[in-house]
Amino acid sequence: MLTISDLSARYGRSVSALRGVSFEVPDESIVAVLGSNGAGKSTLLRAISGTLGLHGGQLTSGRISLDEQRLDRLDPAAVVHRKVLQVPEGRQVFGRMSVEENLRAGGLATEPGKRAAARAAVLELFPVLGQRLDQAAGLLSGGEQQMLAIGRAMMAEPRLLLLDEPSLGLAPQMIERIGEVITEINGRGTAVLLVEQNAAMALQLAHQAVVLEVGELALAGGAAELAESEDVQRLYLGGQLEADDEPVRPARVRRTLGVWQG
Ligand SMILES: Nc1ncnc2c1ncn2[C@@H]1O[C@H](COP(=O)(O)OP(=O)(O)OP(=O)(O)O)[C@@H](O)[C@H]1O
Ligand SMILES: [Mg+2]
Repeated sequence: MLTISDLSARYGRSVSALRGVSFEVPDESIVAVLGSNGAGKSTLLRAISGTLGLHGGQLTSGRISLDEQRLDRLDPAAVVHRKVLQVPEGRQVFGRMSVEENLRAGGLATEPGKRAAARAAVLELFPVLGQRLDQAAGLLSGGEQQMLAIGRAMMAEPRLLLLDEPSLGLAPQMIERIGEVITEINGRGTAVLLVEQNAAMALQLAHQAVVLEVGELALAGGAAELAESEDVQRLYLGGQLEADDEPVRPARVRRTLGVWQG
């Protein structure tokens, strides 16, 4: 179980990106994180993976624990060692390296004796990668690069996978495939924290969901339950605001549905 308690983060001196965020990711579950641009979704994943400092950010309060042991004091490599893997925004594969080399790099954190099995599992999950092992990763299509980025993380046999907008910029068919892959990965026992602006997809895949609004947790609950809430439908599932509606602010969402207090 990953437990996030009262987490606050900022960039530099002035930019507050997360304020008092608390929720849990149970083992073997999929939890979706929804929220508009700038809500703090990527910051949350960076905080968990220990990479916030690499982006000029820092935690100012709270804690992140995996099975009671703190993650928030570990460096990124130590977090990977705990089997928590992040696939960052924008599918950052090593473009000049081959697909095989990218996968090998992902396997460095895995015990040598387990790497062949991890590779076989990744190629079973993404047969297309098996057909392109010698190709430079930078020459793959966007969707294939996203699969490689996920496959590289899977080489470390994660117990928790942190996915930052895996569907961004992909064609509908590819988005559907990514969704299937996430379900399959989860079915093999890996918990997934899924950041998505594609709320419909995320709520369909996830067991639970949280909504971030300008750095604060506005809503949390079962994914199916949130998908049916009027506010989530209006704000994230394409419902149109009426012209004379006041803009919906987090406080109003909170009033309507009640904040989950952790
Ligand atoms: N490296 C950084 N330096 C300074 N401020 C940052 C940095 N990264 C993010 N921010 C700021 O922190 C806040 C949260 O950003 P974050 O990237 O976490 O949002 P997000 O929900 O992932 O947005 P998006 O949907 O656009 O990816 C925003 O106000 C953003 O401008
Ligand atoms: Mg982001």
